[in-house]
Amino acid sequence: MNSLRLTICCVVAVLGALPHFSFAQLDPSFYDSTCSNVSSIVREVLSNVSQSDPRILASLIRLHFHDCFVQGCDASILLNDTDTIVSEQSAAPNNNSIRGLDVVNQIKTAVENACPGTVSCADILALAAQISSDLASGPVWEVPLGRRDSLTANQTLANQNLPAPTFTIDQLINSFGNQSLNITDLVALSGAHTIGRAQCRFFVDRLYNFSNTGNPDPTLNTTLLQSLQGICPNGGPGTNLTNLDLTTPDTFDSNYYSNLQLQNGLLQSDQELLSANNTDIVAIVNNFIMNQTLFFENFKASMRKMGNIGVLTGSQGEIRSQCNSVNGNSSGLTTTATKESSQDSVVSSM
Ligand code: HEM
Ligand SMILES: *[C@@H]1O[C@H](CO)[C@@H](O)[C@H](O)[C@H]1NC(C)=O
Ligand SMILES: *[C@@H]1O[C@H](CO)[C@@H](O)[C@H](O)[C@H]1NC(C)=O
Ligand SMILES: *[C@@H]1O[C@H](CO)[C@@H](O)[C@H](O)[C@H]1NC(C)=O
Ligand SMILES: *[C@@H]1O[C@H](CO)[C@@H](O)[C@H](O)[C@H]1NC(C)=O
Ligand SMILES: *[C@@H]1O[C@H](CO)[C@@H](O)[C@H](O)[C@H]1NC(C)=O
Ligand SMILES: *[C@@H]1O[C@H](CO)[C@@H](O)[C@H](O)[C@H]1NC(C)=O
Ligand SMILES: *[C@@H]1O[C@H](CO)[C@@H](O)[C@H](O)[C@H]1NC(C)=O
Ligand SMILES: *[C@@H]1O[C@H](CO)[C@@H](O)[C@H](O)[C@H]1NC(C)=O
Ligand SMILES: *[C@@H]1O[C@H](CO)[C@@H](O)[C@H](O)[C@H]1NC(C)=O
Ligand SMILES: *[C@@H]1O[C@H](CO)[C@@H](O)[C@H](O)[C@H]1NC(C)=O
Ligand SMILES: *[C@@H]1O[C@H](CO)[C@@H](O)[C@H](O)[C@H]1NC(C)=O
Ligand SMILES: *[C@@H]1O[C@H](CO)[C@@H](O)[C@H](O)[C@H]1NC(C)=O
Repeated sequence: MNSLRLTICCVVAVLGALPHFSFAQLDPSFYDSTCSNVSSIVREVLSNVSQSDPRILASLIRLHFHDCFVQGCDASILLNDTDTIVSEQSAAPNNNSIRGLDVVNQIKTAVENACPGTVSCADILALAAQISSDLASGPVWEVPLGRRDSLTANQTLANQNLPAPTFTIDQLINSFGNQSLNITDLVALSGAHTIGRAQCRFFVDRLYNFSNTGNPDPTLNTTLLQSLQGICPNGGPGTNLTNLDLTTPDTFDSNYYSNLQLQNGLLQSDQELLSANNTDIVAIVNNFIMNQTLFFENFKASMRKMGNIGVLTGSQGEIRSQCNSVNGNSSGLTTTATKESSQDSVVSSM
């Protein structure tokens, strides 16, 4: 396994040297002389936390995605409410949904202890996503680094740019297209739903009254439908959790795609990849089903592409000393990292 990983890493390193794969001014060796062990610090925290909370790996991959689609990968999602900042954390796709903010603070504290004022929160999110994939037995890639942190957040933009689980294939293509991500990226990145959980409220319309038809979604497997109706009572609070990947919920593999063939995609946006009969997209899904290596190679490339969206570099933005607030902010908020957020303690994995 290790030698396979090593081989994959080397392939990526070689490809990374080609102009076609170069990304803005980011560079995997960015911290080599200033914080050479930043990756191992992130890994140590994550391997520790994931022992008691395996879902955290999924949550951190999602956090990077929700950062990148809003003003670029600039850690804007981490900024709390202040007099001048309306936090993205309470935008509809994030509110009572994103997890891992406390773990990011734990990582930041450990990194600051080793290399003060050096590593951005945006880079921590990108590294945490890659290491989470690795720890979930998913693909491993070199993470281009050198992002800087934003001075602003934009809740309106979070509501606009983050795709909804009720999106049709055309809306999904449009949403990703707006971020310069194509249909290969859409299919590959949707594969992140090979791990993690979703709350009933994000798919309950499929169970009882799909598109106000009065009937369930016809593209939802009837066996899964019955099981989900048990977990998600009609008119309930919608906060119960279920696995995004019905077959291998905590392993990063290509089963997410083969589930779709049995109409076992959980979200409408998942099942759309196959059931909308978009010829080009169906072909990509089928290729990923037949060849997991192909899925992994594409996931790596698409994660690097997503990780390059709208990055701040050079002297833009800043290196925050605490991820939840901009530097020198005099609003009286504490700058100490927190150990737990109430949000994470109430949610349990299945
Ligand atoms: C294609 C459009 C997408 C839609 C509509 C979508 C929607 C969602 C929704 C509704 C949830 C459940 C959240 C909750 O119940 O609180 C979720 C979970 C998740 N999403 Fe997506 N997502 C999309 C793409 C992505 C991408 C591109 C990634 C990362 C590359 C990703 C990674 C995840 C992960 C890992 C989880 C599980 C999080 C956890 O268990 O904490 N998703 N997504
Ligand atoms: C690992 O987690 C435990 C609690 O789950 C904590 O006591 C310990 O300090 C952690 N170690 C590191 C290196 O983060
Ligand atoms: C976020 O959720 C809380 C409930 O936890 C709710 O009170 C609040 O209004 C929500 N925020 C937004 C902007 O919808
Ligand atoms: C990381 O490297 C720094 C020096 O660059 C060192 O002070 C620190 O102890 C190292 N931390 C870990 C966890 O290896
Ligand atoms: C948020 O983004 C929107 C759309 O780009 C823009 O019109 C608005 O001015 C931004 N708001 C803030 C607070 O930056
Ligand atoms: C894509 O961007 C266009 C132009 O800004 C906007 O009108 C449209 O709503 C966006 N689509 C999605 C799904 O975000
Ligand atoms: C999507 O973009 C990548 C490069 O980022 C390219 O290799 C791939 O062929 C594109 N896919 C499609 C369907 O255009
Ligand atoms: C489905 O939703 C529509 C619109 O809200 C409503 O009029 C209809 O009564 C609902 N049907 C059922 C069976 O709940
Ligand atoms: C889901 O939540 C409801 C309350 O809305 C609860 O009665 C039920 O037992 C839960 N089901 C599962 C499978 O957790
Ligand atoms: C529904 O899913 C089950 C396995 O979960 C599978 O055996 C069955 O063939 C699926 N039905 C359809 C119509 O794909
Ligand atoms: C997709 O194709 C299947 C099988 O040919 C068909 O049953 C279904 O109605 C089609 N769906 C759409 C949205 O065209
Ligand atoms: C699977 O995909 C990988 C990566 O693109 C490729 O090298 C390999 O030849 C493919 N395997 C088969 C059996 O097509
Ligand atoms: C940001 O908000 C979280 C709760 O949402 C809290 O735990 C944390 O202490 C806040 N951080 C700062 C710097 O105020």
